[in-house]
Amino acid sequence: MNLIDYPKWPSLARESILNVPMDLRSIRLSIDGKVIDYGAEIDSVVITGMGGSGVVGDLLSDLCWFWDCRVPIIVSKNMRLPRRLSRPLVIAISYSGNTAETIMSANEALSRGYPVVGITTGGKLSTVLSGKGVPVVLIPKASAPRYGLPALLYPALIILERFGIASVTNELESGIAGIENALRHVDDAVNLAKQLVGSIPVVWVTESRRGVGIRFKNDLNENAKYYSVVSVVPEGAHNDIAAVTTKQVGLRHVAIMGPNDYEGLYEEVLIDVISSFGAKPIIVKLEGKTPLETEMYGVTYLGITTLALAELLGVEPVSTEPIDRLKNLLSERRVFPV
Ligand code: PA5
Repeated sequence: MNLIDYPKWPSLARESILNVPMDLRSIRLSIDGKVIDYGAEIDSVVITGMGGSGVVGDLLSDLCWFWDCRVPIIVSKNMRLPRRLSRPLVIAISYSGNTAETIMSANEALSRGYPVVGITTGGKLSTVLSGKGVPVVLIPKASAPRYGLPALLYPALIILERFGIASVTNELESGIAGIENALRHVDDAVNLAKQLVGSIPVVWVTESRRGVGIRFKNDLNENAKYYSVVSVVPEGAHNDIAAVTTKQVGLRHVAIMGPNDYEGLYEEVLIDVISSFGAKPIIVKLEGKTPLETEMYGVTYLGITTLALAELLGVEPVSTEPIDRLKNLLSERRVFPV
């Protein structure tokens, strides 16, 4: 089976962090009369980006569930930043560097006087930010944004470390071990894909694995051209679960279980309840000794599952024509001023 860039993920992760500037904290810029001091205290991290780039924010939120992150991570997938931020660090991530929403958010951050770090392969984001002296981490290319995930995530991890938000260096190699472990489970991923053929997957995750669930949904959408639903518990146990009595046909429940007590216990109860209503959930157990290892195992294993599903369905996985068409129309009709 064609794994596209997945076998390269360990090297993408390792190479991508080499370009993170060492001296981030000593940068001081003056933009439109506003001084931006990268050494000043921050009280939140905003991760702005869309799709395969924006999911980095969701994954970092998952990780901060387990790590002792010093400030909250705010995920922003929009053309505007959240209002009423106080002293945020903004990490603007766009694989292509040409996603209008991300460029607008980065510009807005600078106009509000916030320190910004870009992560991209180039494009307008790189030109706009570098032109103002804003640090940009240039990352290696992949076949499409989502296949470059480690190159987008690993620099963000190093940036968190440099800003004293979380200690990540001891875990970086374990994340790569998680990728390698998933690459040894391709046959299991193919079996999982076979069980999803002809269904609408209903993906159950705990809050602490929201990013893994969202990434799985996005990969189902983009690689297999498949709709799916992500139900995040505890909240989903107070609404989505009521629909288990539905007469809608073709739903396939997939419960993603992390190795931690809370996640395992909550999902066990959930599985008991939905099974008692006749659902037959597929259980996917995430493996890993560290939070990053588990997360990387999950996104790699489930991503490969979606490639296997695409192959079973005879679908071309890389191209995402509707997304391209939307981006082109937004630009043609000048919906965004970038
Ligand atoms: O994975 C994909 O191809 C998409 O989800 C893109 O990531 C999304 O359209 C945003 O583009 P970019 O990552 O180049 O900013």
